[in-house]
Amino acid sequence: MNEDVQLGLCTPTEDMKYFYRNGLKDELLFVHYGHGVIETIFGEMAFRPGDYIVIPIGTTYRIRLEGESNHRFLVLESNSRIETPKRYRNEYGQLLEHSPFNERDIRTPEKLNTYVEKGDYEVIVNIDNELTSFKYEYHPFDVVGWDGYLFPWILNIDDFEPITGSIHQPPPVHQTFSGHNFVVCSFVPRLFDYHPEAIPAPYAHSNVNSDEVLYYVEGNFMSRKGVDEGSFTLHPSGIPHGPHPGTIEASIGKKETHELAVMVDTFRPLRVTNFALSFEDSSYMDSWNE
Ligand SMILES: [Fe+2]
Repeated sequence: MNEDVQLGLCTPTEDMKYFYRNGLKDELLFVHYGHGVIETIFGEMAFRPGDYIVIPIGTTYRIRLEGESNHRFLVLESNSRIETPKRYRNEYGQLLEHSPFNERDIRTPEKLNTYVEKGDYEVIVNIDNELTSFKYEYHPFDVVGWDGYLFPWILNIDDFEPITGSIHQPPPVHQTFSGHNFVVCSFVPRLFDYHPEAIPAPYAHSNVNSDEVLYYVEGNFMSRKGVDEGSFTLHPSGIPHGPHPGTIEASIGKKETHELAVMVDTFRPLRVTNFALSFEDSSYMDSWNE
């Protein structure tokens, strides 16, 4: 976490069925596992694995879990608006033709259910990372309509069209969202660099401008050993790093990758919570030693 963004994993339980929340931040939920419905004051949206759910400031919502019980979300809370990258938008705000996704890929609230009910309803409000419990006598979704420009929306990572090239493409080709002092990128199944002498594994680099967090979703992570589905890696700013020994040679001749991962680059340093540190693989930095 830092002043701009907080990042974590959430394994929601049935309790969230009765849990309402009104975030004074923007939130991004990436659905790793599980199906369900997100109910909001703007209407409902069904979600499935691979969905990025963008929940803007001031949206009251609750998550209704469906089906299997192993739901898992990557959760990002932002103190700024989570938006599409500016370079993919024209002066009218429409996504341009070179954008890796398009308005037709975006899902918005469909069914607005009006709950005219009295009871004991709790809304958890997040203000600057302090949670406050509000009690309401009327259902928070006692709403018949809405107007304006702010609403939740969903983009599935499978609808992110990868940008590839004959040589290694720079990280911004993976960018999917932007916020103040951070970006969110999608690494999706794609063809590798197709120049006859291209080396598919990325080169070693120093990320002097950002801390890099990668969350591994699915597939075989070509440049990393010892990284599995659900792993996080954090490469702090300025640390030279690259593919693990042997993976560069092993990548030669490979035509494609089936990896699926979400990256968050923050332009100010991240602080790791004590809870997250309890999951640290302290031998990770030694994994480059042969
Ligand atoms: Fe990196």
